[in-house]
Amino acid sequence: MEVHYHDYLQLDKILNAQLLESDKQHAHAHDEMLFVVIHQAYELWFKQLHYEIDSILEILARPSLNDNSPELQTVVHRVSRCVTILRVLVHQIDIMETMTPMDFLEFRNMLRPASGFQSWQFKELEARLGLKFDQRHGKEYYTAQLRPEQVGIIKKAESDQSLLQLLNSWLERLPFFEDDHDWSGLQAHNAAPGVHPFWAEYRYQLDLSLSEAEKKNLVYFDNLFLGTDGKADPNCTLSPAANRAALFIMLYRGYPILQLPFQLLNGLLEIDEQLSSWRYRHMNMVHRMIGTRIGTGGSTGKDYLRGAADKHYIFREIAQLNSFLIERTRLPSLPNAIEATLGFVHSS
Ligand code: HEM
Repeated sequence: MEVHYHDYLQLDKILNAQLLESDKQHAHAHDEMLFVVIHQAYELWFKQLHYEIDSILEILARPSLNDNSPELQTVVHRVSRCVTILRVLVHQIDIMETMTPMDFLEFRNMLRPASGFQSWQFKELEARLGLKFDQRHGKEYYTAQLRPEQVGIIKKAESDQSLLQLLNSWLERLPFFEDDHDWSGLQAHNAAPGVHPFWAEYRYQLDLSLSEAEKKNLVYFDNLFLGTDGKADPNCTLSPAANRAALFIMLYRGYPILQLPFQLLNGLLEIDEQLSSWRYRHMNMVHRMIGTRIGTGGSTGKDYLRGAADKHYIFREIAQLNSFLIERTRLPSLPNAIEATLGFVHSS
């Protein structure tokens, strides 16, 4: 049989899936159609985001992932697609806001206890990106309203390797410092035992660039990049080696070989930024619609949403690396052999 638009898109199912609660209760509320359609559109986009994240996780989990292969390009491309989808999701709030609080009141009570709180796809997305149970705001009840099979999906996502964890492993594999390069050109001021001359010099230059009030950043630097205090911070996903690699990528991103890795890090920060924009816009919309009343899902409403917005940054460990950047003029120069590798030119 010929493929037909209507069948291919299963429009029978999709276009007959808007069953209004207000109609069931013989009190038709005009704006409930918009409310249903917009939530369905969101869930479809969440589905697409999951589909992209699935493939990103699968590629990043390959032990042989080559950093300059089409595989990494695919990852970067799909991360960027996720960012574009998230931007659209932020904008969709404009449409929702064409509904007034009075229009919403016509059917709001009929929805209780249903709520966006029960969007398991949204919570699964956060978990697959890297949000852990311990970092959740309202962790006592964030799954309380879900069905057992939906809780199972989120718990599985929390125990599987997340994008953030796979990023950590990928960063740890980044080469440059293992090989036997000649670092003797570096001044390597104040090199502590066991610290690579590059990072010893970097720490020295960082110290020079910090103001007196910022000097405590050096302690964080030692902890995050050199792992010298020996205590693993349970809230950190990125290891010292991964942090070093990420900082190195940010510092030397002008070299061709580091451009894709940099775009990956930047794309992940953009995911956080868009998710955060969505959370704030949603929170403000909620405030406008229901003021300080509790949500239909039974949370504290706006206060819960503010807590989640403040706490649920997923790639904050990458964002904080920017605190340790130094001026270009202070950057340690690299051995010729490394410069050649970074520029695709092989030294003899
Ligand atoms: C009139 C419009 C809306 C209102 C008044 C509203 C209200 C709320 C409230 C009060 C909460 C907190 C949980 C609760 O107690 O219910 C919440 C959570 C949530 N809502 Fe909405 N919402 C609206 C539209 C939307 C739309 C269009 C989406 C799109 C999917 C959405 C998705 C979510 C999600 C995912 C959460 C959970 C957030 C988290 O746990 O961090 N909401 N909403």
